[in-house]
Amino acid sequence: MDARDELQATIAKLVVAGKGILAADESLPTITKRFGALRIDSTDDSRRAYRSLLFTTPGAEEFIGGVILFEETLGQSLDDGTPLADVLSRRGIVPGIKVDKGTVPLPGAPGDFITQGLDGLAERLKTYKQKGARFAKWREIYGITDRNPTPLGIHANAEVLARYAAICQECGIVPIVEPEVLIDGDHTLERCQEVAEAVLHAVFAALNRYRVTLEGIVLKPSMVLPGKEHAPKAAPEVVARATLEVLRRTVPSAVPTINFLSGGQSSIEATANLNAMNAMAPNAPWVLSYSYGRALQDDAMRTWAGRADNVPAAQDAFLRRARMNSLARHGKWDAAMDNPSARQ
Ligand code: 13P
Repeated sequence: MDARDELQATIAKLVVAGKGILAADESLPTITKRFGALRIDSTDDSRRAYRSLLFTTPGAEEFIGGVILFEETLGQSLDDGTPLADVLSRRGIVPGIKVDKGTVPLPGAPGDFITQGLDGLAERLKTYKQKGARFAKWREIYGITDRNPTPLGIHANAEVLARYAAICQECGIVPIVEPEVLIDGDHTLERCQEVAEAVLHAVFAALNRYRVTLEGIVLKPSMVLPGKEHAPKAAPEVVARATLEVLRRTVPSAVPTINFLSGGQSSIEATANLNAMNAMAPNAPWVLSYSYGRALQDDAMRTWAGRADNVPAAQDAFLRRARMNSLARHGKWDAAMDNPSARQ
């Protein structure tokens, strides 16, 4: 298969009706923070046990088409020796890999950040591919203040994101292109909308400059929301309308699928907002789905709490959120379905 056919084969598995992506690629500091909040020790083995729990959840393959792994997980196996990436691919779930190396302050643009990890990326991708990865993820962050992101921050991040995407495609790896406009702060929804539009506009101009094949990417944006400290929150219909407006203005219809991050929304908010978008735009040119981390995992991680005897209940919690988001991906969710005592 040449690289283009490989990209299309992977995309075809990710866009299947009813499915989305699970982001289980928390870096060591991030998973340690999430575990720490629940008084769970973060060790090689506890992280392996937790991710094994998620990946072996019976029935999850109905709602999850791909899982983003952290590099450590790609080298880990179940107790019986099966590599965790193989556990996924045997169930028809495509393994992916986070390849960025986090962010540092961007010189010349106070308050903005830039993502690292381009050096040696092509070689790393070859190794990841041998271990089963078929798509990659790279996250850029854009914090909102009165001055940020700066025009330089928007431009520099778009360049890096497009270079990463071009390198992935040359290796036959589908790039998840993730420009995350952060939820932190007390800004209005209108300010978030303005920033999101400028960011996506710059990202797609850069993808074009780097000759990235749009049919072979996954876009992973944040939703247009007021800042976390801004009251009141916006209703799902308001979030949906603003987010769709930005996407229609900036994302060509050649992009097959848009898989949102949850970005600090509650699990229910992330589901309700995705549902509102699909209800409002059933004929959108792209699939509108999920690539959630916290919004798929929070209930499961809390239920597990680091104890083997909680695994079945934690798997139930994970499956429930996956099912709810799968309904939202088609605009068929409603809040009444979403309480643990409702029949499934
Ligand atoms: P959240 O859904 O928790 O924001 O995580 C998604 C992700 O991959 C962030 O990079």
